[in-house]
Amino acid sequence: MELIRIPRIIHQTSREHLLRSKSIGFVPTMGTLHEGHLSLVRMSKKENDVTVVSIFVNPKQFGPSEDFCKYPRDIGGDTAKLEDAGVDILFLPDDSLMYPEGSSTHVEVEELSDRLCGFFRPGHFRGVATVVVKLFNIVIPVRAYFGQKDFQQTVIIKRLVKELDMGIDVVVCPTLREEDGLAMSSRNLYLSVEERKAATVIYRTLVEASSAVKNGIIEVEKIKDIMLGMLRSEPLVKEVQYCSAFDTGTLIEPERIKGEALLAIALQIGNTRLIDNMVVTTENGGR
Ligand code: PAJ
Repeated sequence: MELIRIPRIIHQTSREHLLRSKSIGFVPTMGTLHEGHLSLVRMSKKENDVTVVSIFVNPKQFGPSEDFCKYPRDIGGDTAKLEDAGVDILFLPDDSLMYPEGSSTHVEVEELSDRLCGFFRPGHFRGVATVVVKLFNIVIPVRAYFGQKDFQQTVIIKRLVKELDMGIDVVVCPTLREEDGLAMSSRNLYLSVEERKAATVIYRTLVEASSAVKNGIIEVEKIKDIMLGMLRSEPLVKEVQYCSAFDTGTLIEPERIKGEALLAIALQIGNTRLIDNMVVTTENGGR
């Protein structure tokens, strides 16, 4: 595996691959890699000649009171995992090269960025959109791989790729879970043993809500009541930021589910913010 730290150099390397008609698959990450990240890598390896992974804890997507400084970092462990997975290039840029002093350009996908997580994390998706566009321009991939775990992120990235005519195929891969259903996340490392146990309520709630939808409950208020009831029954759940059904394209909460819907949850357990989601389809497909 080649380790590259300088944007100009990886850009040059990618251009050389493209000139030789090699397809580049790209997996952007913030590191502390788990099986969820590695599943994206495997998918990229399957579909492309060259796989590039980036590890960059992007300061612009963290709010002033968020966990940028204490976000877990494990470059040694990550490098070994990527080496093992057969990654071709690891891009590990410095803050100063990604955001030289005086940088003033941002990418903002309006409206979508203000909903769900965006409402509770102002500026977060502007930070994500900006860094992803920069990384795409540096790496010039044909395909880029993202997890359904961060559903809103995938909707925003698909939208910006389309509206900025970037011509990159955005591939969304399924959420990988621990045995008890908890979605894998670098932030799970923050949880104490009790909190880790309590966190399983998120998956159980999504399963319950999706079977309610399958059993014909399509009124969103009712679905929300079921979800809130379950989440609030767990004493370690400190704050439920949102839990409901949303349109998978607009991320707006409808009155009733017609066809496909996103069931999504964001909550706080102790000081840790966790998110998860599931896509459901009504029995009659909304007809
Ligand atoms: P990070 O949280 O490191 O996630 C990197 C990628 O891994 C994202 O596409 C995320 O959705 C995916 N992922 C995380 N947990 C997963 C799981 N349990 N199963 C499957 N995929 C999973 O998301 C980011 O970094 C950043 O916002 C980034 C896109 C890199 C921009 O900074």
